[in-house]
Amino acid sequence: MSGAFLWWLKDAEARKEFPESVTDRIETPCYLISESMLENNLKILDSVQKRTGAKILHSLKAYAVHSTFPRILKYLHGLNAASLNEARLAFEKGGEEVHTFAPAYLEREMPEIIRYSDHIVFNSLAQWRKYKPLIEKSGKKIEVGLRVNPGYAEVETDMYNPCIPGSRLGILPEALEGEDLEGITGLHFHALCEQNSDVLVRVLASFEKRFGKYLGKMKWVNFGGGHHITRKDYNIELLVKTINDFRKKYGIKEIYLEPGEATVLNAGVLVASVLDIVDNGMKIAILDTSAEAHMPDTIIMPYRPGIVGAGEAGKKKYAYRLGGFTCLAGDVIGDYSFDKPLKAGDKLVFLDMALYSIVKNTTFNGVTLPSIALYDSESGKVRVVRKFGYEDYKNRQS
Ligand SMILES: Cc1ncc(COP(=O)(O)O)c(C=O)c1O
Repeated sequence: MSGAFLWWLKDAEARKEFPESVTDRIETPCYLISESMLENNLKILDSVQKRTGAKILHSLKAYAVHSTFPRILKYLHGLNAASLNEARLAFEKGGEEVHTFAPAYLEREMPEIIRYSDHIVFNSLAQWRKYKPLIEKSGKKIEVGLRVNPGYAEVETDMYNPCIPGSRLGILPEALEGEDLEGITGLHFHALCEQNSDVLVRVLASFEKRFGKYLGKMKWVNFGGGHHITRKDYNIELLVKTINDFRKKYGIKEIYLEPGEATVLNAGVLVASVLDIVDNGMKIAILDTSAEAHMPDTIIMPYRPGIVGAGEAGKKKYAYRLGGFTCLAGDVIGDYSFDKPLKAGDKLVFLDMALYSIVKNTTFNGVTLPSIALYDSESGKVRVVRKFGYEDYKNRQS
């Protein structure tokens, strides 16, 4: 499918799922999560679980709106955490397993990490050895794994590539040579970012080449996140075959995947309003949202988010630069065009905003954080599950 066609399809689907009649009556700024879109994604992920026996965990780092966790855990096996706070939230919300990985752990936090986690993955032999006695002393049955570096990735941006030279993520094969791994029950790798299963096949080949000799002794392997399983063009057949072949080849009991994005892909939008239009050689719309504070990946990645009904700059008759309501000069979302002129009060619907946005928000400039609302397209009901205010800003300072 061509990029332009995919864009059109995404726009048309978003209009259908988030109709104007719903977005127009929302108090902005607000993240709106579609429960039916979430459910669709979960059914796709569950079909992979059913066809492979693999266990899929949702990664909180991408999305942690916990009022939707009961729905997520109706389908997925458990939750994946990257810190004590995520592990605690995952534990409190249930799910069969909580898996925790961090590049390094704080000593004072480790007793609680042990309490909340069923799997703990270490990024070095030194960290494992440091905390091994504590884990043993806890008396809790914990699966302990090592994150290894598969030495191959196809992630174009270095920022998101855990396999670049000098990466701190994942143990190199040389470091395992001749080491006693008694007590290690699994290996973990993460080297994908928004990718299809053909990339997994190539990453897995490199992982096997580097670490295949240890697999005979492992109970489980975790293939990490970055699998864009719920994307329209994702090759699920190849994923299923790859998992099934791998399991058969090594007799591995459990395979885990821990996607974050795929759970909520296309399931959430950010609805914002135009506050003002200014002119500086071009029309600039100032919105009640912010690239910097509410959609930081548009600056960090960087990428240009889709907006329902809007085109690239120059595509449609009325062009605008869209900017945020913080005083940062670079708080700019991008240049867009529209069929009709924008005016104060108009609502704009930013696409695919459930992932890596709410979890990354800041209160920079003290600007209002967007509310979070759930939308049930069958009943047409919108339920605001969280509103933020002064206390949220104040409590992050002292
Ligand atoms: C170790 C690990 N697991 C899982 C994920 C989730 O990845 P994604 O949301 O791209 O599926 C990440 C993302 O950075 C990660 O670093």
